[in-house]
Amino acid sequence: MIGLQWGDEAKGKIVDILTEQHDIVVRYQGGNNAGHTVVCQGQTYKLSLLPVGVLNPRVTSVIGPGVVVNPKALESEISMLAGRGVNVGQNLLISDRAHVIFPYHIAEEAAFERSRGNEAIGTTGRGIGTCYRDKIGRIHAMRVGDLLRPVSFKSRLKDVVDYKNTILKALTPGFEALDAEAIATEYLAHAERFKPHVTDTTSFLHKALANGKRLIFEGAQGSLLDIDHGSFPYVTSSNSSGSGLHNGSGVPERHLTKIIGVVKAYTTRVGGGPFPTELDNPTGEHIRKIGREYGTVTGRPRRCGWFDGVASSYGGRVSGVTCVAIMLLDVLSELDEIGICTHYEINGERTADFPSHVEDLAAAKPVYRMLPGWKQDISGVKKLADFPARARAYIDTIADLMGVPVTLLSVGPDREQTVML
Ligand code: IMP
Repeated sequence: MIGLQWGDEAKGKIVDILTEQHDIVVRYQGGNNAGHTVVCQGQTYKLSLLPVGVLNPRVTSVIGPGVVVNPKALESEISMLAGRGVNVGQNLLISDRAHVIFPYHIAEEAAFERSRGNEAIGTTGRGIGTCYRDKIGRIHAMRVGDLLRPVSFKSRLKDVVDYKNTILKALTPGFEALDAEAIATEYLAHAERFKPHVTDTTSFLHKALANGKRLIFEGAQGSLLDIDHGSFPYVTSSNSSGSGLHNGSGVPERHLTKIIGVVKAYTTRVGGGPFPTELDNPTGEHIRKIGREYGTVTGRPRRCGWFDGVASSYGGRVSGVTCVAIMLLDVLSELDEIGICTHYEINGERTADFPSHVEDLAAAKPVYRMLPGWKQDISGVKKLADFPARARAYIDTIADLMGVPVTLLSVGPDREQTVML
């Protein structure tokens, strides 16, 4: 299940529905920058680091090697669920290979974002990018498995914190040095509590596959935020397109039978960076209001715009999707006409390619096909044939641009408001 836009495509709802047909739900990239809102039996849950599978006691939920784990955030999410009667027991597994987010990652990110001024990436401020940077750099990285070896962990942490304090003091006026001893005590206490969940999840998944178990992979963020393939540098720091699934989970491609790309019926984006189809006008505000487009993690209002066929179909190609799910169709029901971007015009040239350079993306002028709105409540529609003809034309136009069949349509937040094709 992969988002094909800039994240927030309502993937959580689909994972929740499809969990019933699966045994294991796997998160494989990102961290507590993600926000999945799931409405389950009338209750709304906002998950960030935990896989959506934790809401279903029958399935095993896996946090794979490619995820970055903030232990404090993990524990507070588990306690939030416990407070609402959902107990995350032994069916949560955390990879010992996953990297750990420390307070200096968050402090460094704040300093870097400040230094970029108007060009700030607009991150979620969770230390995601700085943790991944240390992972790739290797020298200062620490993994979940390291937290279970207190003696070597403490001594390495001291060296890392000394180094980070030097940098942070230089970057941040009045910075108060971090205390390695205090961080070690806090992190070892967290580790002691989540130790029963920590395992070699790669080996676990390989055995599960050999035993015929059914797996669903829950992508976080969206393909256009992918570090390699997205709108760099306004991206997240992991492979959030389909390409991240294999390295992030340890499960090779040949095991996949279906790749579902998820798009909204329009486009949203949080944070900075070019957004060709953005509607900075009352229509954009209308979509934000009706779609309740505010970030799950940070509460920031999301930027809203028309469906971008250039960007979404590129996301679909990079992710290798075999079908597409269109979410939040009901949000557009009151509009007189609805735009779909079919091409960009960049420096006078028309193209259907998603530009590789951010300056070209910033220069891209969307070319729209305007379709008449259906102006009818569709939130109770149960089958394709019952959609108004104009809504079907809209769905068909998206399917044509995506080049893969539509597998699911969502017309409201509840599970029942889902049309499976
Ligand atoms: P980071 O992932 O916190 O480093 O933020 C980098 C960019 O990705 C920013 O534009 C964020 O707003 C965006 N981002 C990160 N996670 C999500 C998400 O779950 N949904 C939408 N945007 C996200």
